[in-house]
Amino acid sequence: MLNLKDILNGISSESKKMEWGNMKITIAKELDKTQDVLFLGLFEEDKDNGKSFSKELAEEVEEAMTRKAFSRKFGEMYGTKVSSHPYKKVVVTGLGEKKDFSVEKVRQALGKMVTATKGWSFSSFCTNVVEKVKTGADAELLGRAAAEGLLLANYNFNKYLAKDKQEKKKPLSMVSLQWNGGNDFSEGLKVGRVVVEATNWVRDLVNEPANVVNSEYMEKMAKQVASQYGSVKLKVLNKAELEKEGMGSLLGVNAGSQNPPKLLVLEYTGSKKGKYTAFLGKGITFDSGGYNLKPTKYIEDMKTDMAGAAAVMAAVKVAAELKIKKNLLGVMPLCENMVDATAQHPGDIVRAYNGKTIEIGNTDAEGRLVLCDALAYTEAKYAPEVMIDLATLTGACVVALGYYAAGVMGTDTELLGKLKDAGEVSGDRVWELPFFEEYQDWMDGSISDLNNISTKGKGYEAGSITAGVFLAKFVEKAKWAHVDIAGSAYWMVDGAYLSKGATGSGVRLLSYYLMGNQEKE
Ligand code: BES
Ligand code: ZN
Ligand code: ZN
Repeated sequence: MLNLKDILNGISSESKKMEWGNMKITIAKELDKTQDVLFLGLFEEDKDNGKSFSKELAEEVEEAMTRKAFSRKFGEMYGTKVSSHPYKKVVVTGLGEKKDFSVEKVRQALGKMVTATKGWSFSSFCTNVVEKVKTGADAELLGRAAAEGLLLANYNFNKYLAKDKQEKKKPLSMVSLQWNGGNDFSEGLKVGRVVVEATNWVRDLVNEPANVVNSEYMEKMAKQVASQYGSVKLKVLNKAELEKEGMGSLLGVNAGSQNPPKLLVLEYTGSKKGKYTAFLGKGITFDSGGYNLKPTKYIEDMKTDMAGAAAVMAAVKVAAELKIKKNLLGVMPLCENMVDATAQHPGDIVRAYNGKTIEIGNTDAEGRLVLCDALAYTEAKYAPEVMIDLATLTGACVVALGYYAAGVMGTDTELLGKLKDAGEVSGDRVWELPFFEEYQDWMDGSISDLNNISTKGKGYEAGSITAGVFLAKFVEKAKWAHVDIAGSAYWMVDGAYLSKGATGSGVRLLSYYLMGNQEKE
């Protein structure tokens, strides 16, 4: 294993190999002939001839490049004729128009190459893509994006499949990137690896079923993080402490469950000065809906309702691993929303940590009920400057935005701007939903301070925004933003570098946000 100094010492013509996750990524000045597949990237306007890519393959590449059917649109791939060359396959790959190219396209292009190579049952490839797009790009960001595209696409969740089925789409063992630019690229690759390892860790946690991942399992994971890093401490509030603290809202949600409720607080110290930034994540390990039971087609994937908590835990891991200069809290209210004789009834009234009373208009609107206690508690105990919550909060957000952006809302325009920037650069996008003044009393109760569903109109209008309005009532001074990852956390379709299933949404967002907002010491 090379250390960072070795990486920064420059890249010799002999490629340097690094174990990154289950894939070795190497950097070499030339295209590496020892790999199974060669992908040659081409912009639509490129005038290159086959020779400029490879003297040995000139004719074949020229023939493929000039084929009428190969339009060079982004992601289009065309295999050359097979002849006597060192590769098992040579593929010309369209990169689209140069002006449309971005670091996100690097993620996508490399992701597509990983998926294609897996599909052909080869185990390695080399490509000129990052070398090709280096002009004008920030080499460090390019490195991050390259590692992310490769390692996110190499992920699979197949531990419950029989061995022979696991063999079918085996992850790649190696990729070689042609690169002749500066060392910032290697630095970026290293950062990208850290971020992806945390992201893939979240994908595992979210893909694992609810008969495995419950609050105790999450506690075990948090303990691992705390024991791995001296800079991280864990505080666990169990049922008795939650009762003592008066978190009646969280406890109400858990009332029908056999699994105990918990509030975990991971505390990372990365700076001698500076107030806390708190990340809070919804941790419902299964959301049946409670007595407002979810119907078939809506209940099946509800093991994913702890994706916010998992992303927050991963962000703390990233902060500790990268030694981010910031003091950070990862707050995770954990419980299960189940049906039982002991479960709360629709119409029950509970009292939250901050003393506000809440009528349970719908037992399925439980995420806000656990988060509101967590927000109020975190602010009272730690007085953070910033609080950002992540939650698979509303089906309405999936309807509004689908998979390719999380909804974000709040009142602090500077914080919202920072999150939008982090989302754009990392490819883990957020889209702002309007937090209009007119909605601010839509969650007011009639016989209690608040209702957990909207009491105006038909009750479902602007469902994601009214959920945010509810949460806002539990924040007093902190700069706060709410990120609804209901659609982005779990996909029903494959993407360029993320596949069907858990995506780890929020990890890149929070990691990039942290990297860009450190204390100046
Ligand atoms: N966990 C769900 C939201 C969700 C839906 C997440 C789809 C991921 C995919 C949440 O607890 C919920 O059930 N929300 C209700 C709120 C409603 C009752 C006001 C919803 O969106 O239907
Ligand atoms: Zn629910
Ligand atoms: Zn839920």
